Amino acid sequence: MSPLKKSSIFHILQRRKNQLIFTSFLLIFSLIIIQNLSFTSNSLTSITETISTTVPTSTSHLLSASYFTSSFSSIYNTSTIIAAQKITPKENGLNLVIPPTPIENGSNKKINHSQKTTRKKVHKFVKKKRNSCDIFEGKWVLDDSDPNPIYPPGSCPFLDDTFNCFNNGRFDLDYLRYRWQPHGCNIPRFDGKKMLEILRGKRMVFVGDSLNRNMWESMVCSLRMSLDDKNTVFEVSGRKQFRAEGFYSFKFQDYNCTIEFIRSPFLVQEWKFPVVKGVVETRREMLRLDLIQATTSNYHNADFLIFNTGHWWTHQKLRKGKNFFQEGNIVHPELKVTEAYTKALKTWSKWVDKNVNKNKTQVFFAGYSASHFRGGQWNSGGNCDGETEPIKDDKFLAPYPWMMRIFESVISKMNTPVVYLNITKMTDYRKDAHPSIYRQPRAERRPGMIQDCSHWCLPGVPDSWNQLLYAYLLMNSKNSKKIH
Ligand SMILES: *[C@@H]1O[C@H](CO)[C@@H](O)[C@H](O)[C@H]1NC(C)=O
Ligand SMILES: *[C@@H]1O[C@H](CO)[C@@H](O)[C@H](O)[C@H]1NC(C)=O
Ligand SMILES: *[C@@H]1O[C@H](CO)[C@@H](O)[C@H](O)[C@H]1NC(C)=O
Ligand SMILES: *[C@@H]1O[C@H](CO)[C@@H](O)[C@H](O)[C@H]1NC(C)=O
Ligand SMILES: *[C@@H]1O[C@H](CO)[C@@H](O)[C@H](O)[C@H]1NC(C)=O
Ligand SMILES: *[C@@H]1O[C@H](CO)[C@@H](O)[C@H](O)[C@H]1NC(C)=O
Repeated sequence: MSPLKKSSIFHILQRRKNQLIFTSFLLIFSLIIIQNLSFTSNSLTSITETISTTVPTSTSHLLSASYFTSSFSSIYNTSTIIAAQKITPKENGLNLVIPPTPIENGSNKKINHSQKTTRKKVHKFVKKKRNSCDIFEGKWVLDDSDPNPIYPPGSCPFLDDTFNCFNNGRFDLDYLRYRWQPHGCNIPRFDGKKMLEILRGKRMVFVGDSLNRNMWESMVCSLRMSLDDKNTVFEVSGRKQFRAEGFYSFKFQDYNCTIEFIRSPFLVQEWKFPVVKGVVETRREMLRLDLIQATTSNYHNADFLIFNTGHWWTHQKLRKGKNFFQEGNIVHPELKVTEAYTKALKTWSKWVDKNVNKNKTQVFFAGYSASHFRGGQWNSGGNCDGETEPIKDDKFLAPYPWMMRIFESVISKMNTPVVYLNITKMTDYRKDAHPSIYRQPRAERRPGMIQDCSHWCLPGVPDSWNQLLYAYLLMNSKNSKKIH
C-alpha cells in the first residue's frame, strides 16, 4: 500500500472518529431532552393532541389513507386496521407523520405504569403509535388462498388487450400469487358485494393517465366478479376498448352506480394543433399550466374522485421544457419540468378547492406508480420481460419521486381533504408484474419491440390499490359506521 493511500485512510479514520464523537454527543443531547419532556411537561402528549385535534380548525390538511387506528377493530379482529387518521401539516407545509410501528408483542412493557402520570401519557402515545399502521408500507407475500387473484386471468371482458397479459400468452403466473401485506396490520380482502353497497346510487370517477385507466379497469373487473348476473354491468356507450376516447362509463345496473374514466394525463389542458413549416405539417403540442383539462363530462360533483398524473411528466419534450409550457398568453421559452409540474398541480388544487363540494365528494390521488425498464427507456429498448419475482431487497428500490414530494407539499395547502394513495414503494417491488412483451399477442410481437414496463398486467398490482381504496372506504362509509 502506498504511503499516500495510508495517509488518506488515516484521514478517513480521523474523520470517522470525529463524526462518531459528534453523533454520540447529539444522541446524549437528545436523550436528555426526551427525558426532560417526559418527566417535566406534557410536551410529548401535546404532540399527539396536535395531531388529532387541530384538524378541524386547520384550513389545510392532508388526509392520508395510510394511517389507521384500531378503533373499530371489532368488525374484523384485533390486528385489523380501521379508521383513517388525519395528518396535519406543520406551518411550513410539511406533513406531520406518525412513524408506523409494527404490531409487536408487548413492546410497551418497558414502561412502568406505577410511575408518574406523565409516564402514563407517554404510554398512551406509544399505544397510539402501536395501533397506527401505514398500509402502504409492507411487503408482497405469496398467498395461494382464495380469492387471489380477485378475478381469474382472462376472465374479464372489460380489459384493454394491452393489459390482458394472460390472453396475450403470458403463462408464467407466479406474479398473480402475491398479496400485499402491510407491516403493521391486516387489510380486509376486497369484497365486491360490500364495495357495491358502498357505491350504491353513486358515481366514482377516475381522472388521469393510463395508469389510472389500469386502476379503473381493475376496479370494474373486481366488482364484476361479485355479480351473480354479469350481464348487469356494461359500458354505457357499448364500447369494448378503452384507449381511444376521453371518457368511458361502466354502469352496474342493479346498484345504480357508475365507475367512470376520464383521460387527462396532465390534469391541466393539453393543446395539440397542426403547424405547417414549408411543406411539412407537424403537430405542435403545448400545456396550459393555468387551465384544468376541459372534459365533456361534468365530474366535479361525483361522489368519489380518483386523480393521478405522473408518467407523462417524464417525457423528453417536457424535460427539455422549451416553448412547451404556456400560462395565459405567455409561452415560457424554457421552464423546468419541476416548476411546470408544481404550477399544474396548483392549478388542479385550486380547481378542486373551488369546484368540489367536500361535504359530498371524497377526493383521492393515486401516487406515482413505479416503472422497471432495464437497459433503456420505454422508447429506447428498455425491457422487463423474463422477470418472475418481485424485488426483495429495499436497497434496489428507487428513491421517492420528486413529483410526489411536490404533490405532498401542494396538497398540504388545500382546503379539500385529499386521500393520498401512496403506492410508489409498493409498486416498486413488482418488476415481475408488467405486461412487458405480453402487451401484444404473439402474432403481433416483433424482435426489439417496445415493451411495456410501466403499466400492469390485469389481474395484478392495481387490484391491490383498489383493495386499499376499498379498505379506506369501508372504514369511512356510512354503512360501516352503522356496523360500528
Ligand atoms: C382475523 O384475521 C386473520 C388474518 O387475517 C384471519 O385468518 C381470521 O379468520 C380473523 N378472525 C376473525 C375472527 O375474523
Ligand atoms: C405474544 O405474547 C404471548 C404471551 O406473552 C405469547 O404467548 C405469544 O406467543 C406472543 N406472540 C408473538 C407473536 O410473539
Ligand atoms: C415500577 O416503579 C415502582 C415505583 O417507581 C417500583 O417500585 C417498581 O419496582 C417498578 N416496577 C418495575 C417492573 O420496574
Ligand atoms: C340512481 O342514482 C342517481 C344518482 O347517481 C339518482 O339521481 C337516481 O335517482 C338513482 N336512480 C334510482 C332508480 O335509484
Ligand atoms: C358543508 O357542511 C358544512 C357544515 O355541515 C356547512 O357549513 C357548509 O356550508 C357545507 N358546504 C357546502 C358547500 O355545502
Ligand atoms: C409515501 O411513501 C414514501 C415511501 O415510499 C414515504 O417516503 C413518504 O413519506 C410517504 N408519504 C406519506 C404522506 O405518507
